[in-house]
Amino acid sequence: MKNSIFNNKVVWITGASSGIGEALVYQFANSGARVIASSNDLPGLQRVREACGDKSEQVTCAPFDLSDTSGIDEIVSQQITAKGKIDFLLNIGGISQRARIDETPLWLDRKIFEINYFGTIALTKAVLPYMIRQKSGHIIATSSISGRFGFPLRSTYSASKQALHGFFETLYLENKSSNIRTSVIIPGRVDTAISYHALNATGKEHGRLDEGQAKGISPAKAAQIIIKGILRNKREILVGKSELMLLHIRRYMPWLFFRIADKIKST
Ligand SMILES: NC(=O)c1ccc[n+]([C@@H]2O[C@H](COP(=O)([O-])OP(=O)(O)OC[C@H]3O[C@@H](n4cnc5c(N)ncnc54)[C@H](OP(=O)(O)O)[C@@H]3O)[C@@H](O)[C@H]2O)c1
Repeated sequence: MKNSIFNNKVVWITGASSGIGEALVYQFANSGARVIASSNDLPGLQRVREACGDKSEQVTCAPFDLSDTSGIDEIVSQQITAKGKIDFLLNIGGISQRARIDETPLWLDRKIFEINYFGTIALTKAVLPYMIRQKSGHIIATSSISGRFGFPLRSTYSASKQALHGFFETLYLENKSSNIRTSVIIPGRVDTAISYHALNATGKEHGRLDEGQAKGISPAKAAQIIIKGILRNKREILVGKSELMLLHIRRYMPWLFFRIADKIKST
């Protein structure tokens, strides 16, 4: 396999039971990496592990709930004991939202933040001291194009992703001299179950695949772009197609962004 740089590397992937995280498990396992696969869905993780075929022995399932990271130090310590190191941490797990601000109860805002922001930084903070000690490591977070601007029905999703940019930029600045690399993935549209699992105003799943979602790139293609970005040590890895133009429009022609966002079917 081409990316032999990953041979025998230890790669921890959250969100590994579905979508982008699942596709990354397959590609890293095929590249010779030893993969720690996490999500809150053990049967889902076991399915992904089995789907790795003759590479399945390279994959360890380490389930935990990103919204309850009280046991995270213990989970990390177990994995370090078993594997001896962690070379790459890919924080992919997350949840989206489909609810207006005036309908969304505060407990739901907090739940989305717990998963997308606090879950991600808790694992990152638990892994970081080991990486500092080993004087190497690459930590990756997953934002979204709506982590760069507000978007209807995504208020707290957008806010939780924007918060990750502040945290990971600081992580980069503080740890550059310790040889810790950081990247933030910014996906546009990827054809996964993200909109299906997005939370509505009652905290239940949105339960359907949005029209735009299906027009996104495949998870396998997204995983390829992400791995290429990691190999190039890119601080921001853009993943998607023409929808990524919105990032530039928002930055350089905000008036046009607000006109377009107003017209986008926001379900
Ligand atoms: N697809 C897109 O178009 C798109 C666009 C922008 C950003 N993103 C971001 O990309 C990342 C991956 O999303 P995806 O598209 O691959 O969606 P997905 O298919 O729904 O996968 C989400 C993953 O996150 C995990 N997860 C969710 N809540 C969790 C929790 N409480 N504890 C542990 N794991 C949890 C899920 O596992 P469980 O089964 O355990 O819930 C699943 O493995 C997310 O951070 C998302 O915000 C995606």
